[in-house]
Amino acid sequence: MLLLGSGELGKEVAIAFQRLGVEVHAADRYSDAPAHQIAHFAYTLDMMDPEEVTALVEKVRPHFIVPEIEAIATEALRDLEEASFTVIPTAEATQLTMNREGIRRLAAEELGLPTSNYAFADTFEEFEQAVETIGMPCVVKPVMSSSGKGQSVIKNTDDVASAWEYAIAGGRVSASRVIVEGFVEFDYEITLLTVRSIDPVSGEAATWFCEPIGHRQDSGDYVESWQPMPMSEEALDNARSVAARITRALGGRGVFGVELFISGDEVYFSEVSPRPHDTGMVTMCSQRFSEFELHARAILGLPIDVTVTSPGASAVIYGGMEAKHIGYEGVAEALSIPESEVRLFGKPEAHVRRRMGVALATAEDIDTARTRATRAAAAVTPVKT
Ligand SMILES: Nc1ncnc2c1ncn2[C@@H]1O[C@H](COP(=O)(O)OP(=O)(O)OP(=O)(O)O)[C@@H](O)[C@H]1O
Ligand SMILES: [Mg+2]
Repeated sequence: MLLLGSGELGKEVAIAFQRLGVEVHAADRYSDAPAHQIAHFAYTLDMMDPEEVTALVEKVRPHFIVPEIEAIATEALRDLEEASFTVIPTAEATQLTMNREGIRRLAAEELGLPTSNYAFADTFEEFEQAVETIGMPCVVKPVMSSSGKGQSVIKNTDDVASAWEYAIAGGRVSASRVIVEGFVEFDYEITLLTVRSIDPVSGEAATWFCEPIGHRQDSGDYVESWQPMPMSEEALDNARSVAARITRALGGRGVFGVELFISGDEVYFSEVSPRPHDTGMVTMCSQRFSEFELHARAILGLPIDVTVTSPGASAVIYGGMEAKHIGYEGVAEALSIPESEVRLFGKPEAHVRRRMGVALATAEDIDTARTRATRAAAAVTPVKT
């Protein structure tokens, strides 16, 4: 299989495939990325360049093309799928989800799923109009961005100009299209990991739902997650129904991370990753099979089992500085916390807000697991070597 994107999530996917006897080719835009370090073959290329992506696929001729990130030349994936390569979950799903407009129009306008109100804008004039229509507070995001890049909240008219500038600067491409979303006053937010695969008994397509994952975001980036998130019966039913409809519309096989906002028993669709989700790293300690193993199993058509084995939590370890050649201090202290472990990604370069590792912990209850994971993450500090 060919992994397009070789970050920490891709590394775990690669390990899962290798344990099932599959040869792994891993690509990224920079060398020595986490999955590069363990793959059978590693490639460095501009993955937004359709010609480079096509040339690599034609050279490797993988059974499965497995995208790990959004920033890929998805038009090339469409052509490769036409030429009978298998793209996970589908080329169309990767294309729709890399652009907030594609997935939002599908969810809200075609499927009628509940979402925040929204409007799009290409110019500052359209933007002012959109903010007026949606009302304040509202959330502004470049249509092509991830991990909170270019994202901000407008609380009053003083924020409008700076939110526009910030979004324009934070987009993945030079085009200036943004989405303005009504601010959802949710009680909590979850990721509902949803697995689409083949039922080995009936041979039919089937869908599995993992237990909901609660998480906390800071500036649009995840800092902490835990599983299972307690929910009312009705909210959970609604969440599963939304997840079933959006993943069915996207199609194909694999794990999807469906991001939902929950207010009472109401569920709002936010967005979906057609691949394992960063908040789902907690499943490495809380489920019998992690989301990465489930992704590999679903793609290969092997049995799916979404059992939770213990309440668990994850907490992010940030770079905290700008440096190359880094090591880590405080690992012994972190691991002295009961039922804790760490995953240090081995990224060659640290940035202040770059995710360099994650601490995981289990416990009898979620609160204790969260405290343990947070303490373990705080104990580890990347240092220059
Ligand atoms: N309309 C909204 N109302 C309230 N909060 C929001 C809204 N949109 C986003 N947020 C908050 O910001 C977080 C990040 O938003 P979103 O998932 O759209 O960004 P992202 O850049 O795609 O992040 P990631 O790639 O890490 O998932 C959400 O998880 C939520 O906490
Ligand atoms: Mg998100």
